[in-house]
Amino acid sequence: MPKTQKFRITGGNRLKGTVRVSGAKNAALPLMAATLLSSSKHTLRGVPALKDIFTMAELLDDLGAVCSLKKGTLEINTESIDAFEAPYELVRTMRASVLVLGPLVARYGRAKVSLPGGCAIGARPINLHLMALERMGANITLEGGYILASAKRLKGARVYFDIPTVTGTENVMMAATLAKGTTIIENAAREPEVVDLARALKAMGAEIKGAGESVITIQGVKELNPIKHRVIPDRIEASTFITAAAITAGEVTIENVLPEHMDAVIEKIKQTGTEVKTKGKALVVKGPERPLPANVKTMPYPGFPTDMQAQFMALMTVAEGSSIITETIFENRFMHVAELRRFGAEISIEGHTATVKGVDRLKGAPVMATDLRASASLVLAALRAEGESIVDRIYHIDRGYEAIEKKLRALGAEIERFKD
Ligand code: EPZ
Repeated sequence: MPKTQKFRITGGNRLKGTVRVSGAKNAALPLMAATLLSSSKHTLRGVPALKDIFTMAELLDDLGAVCSLKKGTLEINTESIDAFEAPYELVRTMRASVLVLGPLVARYGRAKVSLPGGCAIGARPINLHLMALERMGANITLEGGYILASAKRLKGARVYFDIPTVTGTENVMMAATLAKGTTIIENAAREPEVVDLARALKAMGAEIKGAGESVITIQGVKELNPIKHRVIPDRIEASTFITAAAITAGEVTIENVLPEHMDAVIEKIKQTGTEVKTKGKALVVKGPERPLPANVKTMPYPGFPTDMQAQFMALMTVAEGSSIITETIFENRFMHVAELRRFGAEISIEGHTATVKGVDRLKGAPVMATDLRASASLVLAALRAEGESIVDRIYHIDRGYEAIEKKLRALGAEIERFKD
């Protein structure tokens, strides 16, 4: 078994102090892919130093780009792109690699991208991405686990998504910026990360209307200018720290947030008796001695985000009453339940619905992370649990949280990273 890094956490401390949220991983990843749309020198600021960001930079380097990340500023030179393949070994570690598909076909007329394969939380097919690009005139074939896509020049088309896919919307929006004519995306994803990408594309010279709504219209242009853009703050990281303050009955100030991106989470967390106040551009969060139960159903934005389901469930394990948590986006996003039970949580699952019966206390235990947000959920539970917990396979958490143990330690948590 390869030696994996672990967290040792001693629970029971109330978190106190101020934490600063990093830039959004799920905004930075499509923005990095968008640099392929224009052969220039691009600059992205506020980019988090995360495993997934390094993986995307490695992929762009393989395509001939030159990436350098220093203190949150990512310079990407795409003046000499000379390869068009996203290999399986990269794509299987990060599905967001599929975001290079649209830009490569739009700018270079060709792409060879590995099918992402499944992942812990679900099958996560990309059929909608491929349907849309075909509607835009791309010739798509599957060979040896790879998507081969080619097009003389993409043409605008009307595309309807029966599921508002986030990266599907981003892939098509990017491809459409250089297509001939008008593309209309119906039932588009409305996430803030889609809006941030659209903002950057418009600054590059793209003609996009309706980003953030369910219908996005893109008028293709001949060519685009370099990106110069600051990435929005990570609403899921911010929401995770709100939950950390709540579960430890602490009092935390969270800086570098856009509260308007977190309405559903803030509304829901207030129902648990957690106080959330805005102070300038920061949030001040005060956790209750014991949270009240609250039911939640994950929905596409602006609904409650699936990426916060596991973290919210951790909070509900100690609520004074029962909560019903329904996951509607992914078919297998309850991997954290079995691990939360090891702390003494009482959770039963019926299909896509988990019933969490709040218990008085959690007890520290050795647990194992299975995916990015599940690992955040286990850390939250360990911060509340009495005694020592060990969280294994924390490489999952490093994909989406920049230096999380440093940030938590600065708030008074007893947490350290170690190798067996
Ligand atoms: C994005 O993934 C995020 N990743 C995910 O965050 C997030 O959980 C998800 O959106 C939902 O909000 C990035 O932005 C890099 P989808 P994505 O396409 O785009 C089905 C994290 O923790 N679907 O919106 O892959 C799919 O199976 C990650 O940071 C199809 O059936 O999600 C899923 O059930 C995890 N066919 C649902 O739609 C398709 O072609 C939503 O998927 C595409 C999607």
